[in-house]
Amino acid sequence: METNKNLYQYNTFGFNVMATEYVSISSISSLQEFIKQGELANTSVLVLGGGSNILFTSDFKGLILHNQILGITKIREDDNEVDIRIGGGENWHETVINAIGNGWGGIENLSLIPGSVGAAPIQNIGAYGVEIEDTFKSLEFVHFSDGSTQEFTKEDCQFGYRDSVFKRDLKGKGMVASVTLTLSKKPSLNTSYGAIKTTLEDMSIENPTISDVSNAVIQIRRSKLPDPAEVGNAGSFFKNPVIPEHKYAELKELHRDLPGYSNGPGKIKIPAGWLIDKIGWKGYRKGSVGVHKDQALVIVHYGGGSGKEVRDLALEIKKSVYENFSIELETEVNIL
Ligand code: EPU
Repeated sequence: METNKNLYQYNTFGFNVMATEYVSISSISSLQEFIKQGELANTSVLVLGGGSNILFTSDFKGLILHNQILGITKIREDDNEVDIRIGGGENWHETVINAIGNGWGGIENLSLIPGSVGAAPIQNIGAYGVEIEDTFKSLEFVHFSDGSTQEFTKEDCQFGYRDSVFKRDLKGKGMVASVTLTLSKKPSLNTSYGAIKTTLEDMSIENPTISDVSNAVIQIRRSKLPDPAEVGNAGSFFKNPVIPEHKYAELKELHRDLPGYSNGPGKIKIPAGWLIDKIGWKGYRKGSVGVHKDQALVIVHYGGGSGKEVRDLALEIKKSVYENFSIELETEVNIL
């Protein structure tokens, strides 16, 4: 265990914050041993993966458990599919590339999403028409209370839009040690998302493979989303709000170009990025933080600033969206 650990490298916003205690966890048994010794008692505990969905607004007074449980194992295979078990500490994008290299389809649309495998089901990561729940089979969870392990099926996880039971009842109660996905050996591609179609057309690809779809997604993401290695950010800062159809119709009267996607009976999901952009925030900068110039849903940190500045900017954006559209935005990023 380390004390007074600088977390600069461990959060993609790139804030210089300290944790009172830090330990890297590389196996279930080492975590269980740690729990048995009583190390988790009487302290705040935070599991850290890739640090790509977290905003530290101050030093962390507690214990960071850095999930570094590695390994990718094929545990079942038939003519059509494979089940692979992936350690929670593995990098998500490297896992996608590994699957594509083996010809296994299902997660190619989720290329280049920053973060770790263990964090992926917690917020049910998604992009370009696909969510992790679509290929999810199960996960192994270690309870902090007694070190016991429990297998969670898809139903147990209660997945929703950027949501699962691990963000609610089980928040802070344990660690995702591994995730098992069922991938297809005869992949059917999902190219329904407009930008994927046009990018493949631009690439003059008529019969795309999973690798082509992955390349298209990588190209789209690189053109819109800032690379955390270059400028601090945590992807979409807010969730896309889901509003009742009648409210959407009222707003559409005022804003003819308001996009909206059906999201269950009587419900419409609208892009928060559009709302924020419409009010004129895109490219806005205040001190060390700002709104990304190509995607208004992403708040960026140019360096030398603090998490409090990001939080304050997010509050201002939230207020202005409410004043203009009477819509309450919810944050996607975990704010500490
Ligand atoms: N839009 C604007 N201005 C903006 C941003 C978006 O007008 O500044 C409009 C676009 O023109 C488009 C619509 O909003 O009509 C949707 O934009 P985009 O395709 O960029 O997707 P998004 O809804 O803003 C979501 C996810 C992203 C994911 C993309 C692609 C959420 C909160 N975000 O963004 O996920 O990559 O769809 O599927 O659901 C993340 O979670 O961190 C993330 C990046």
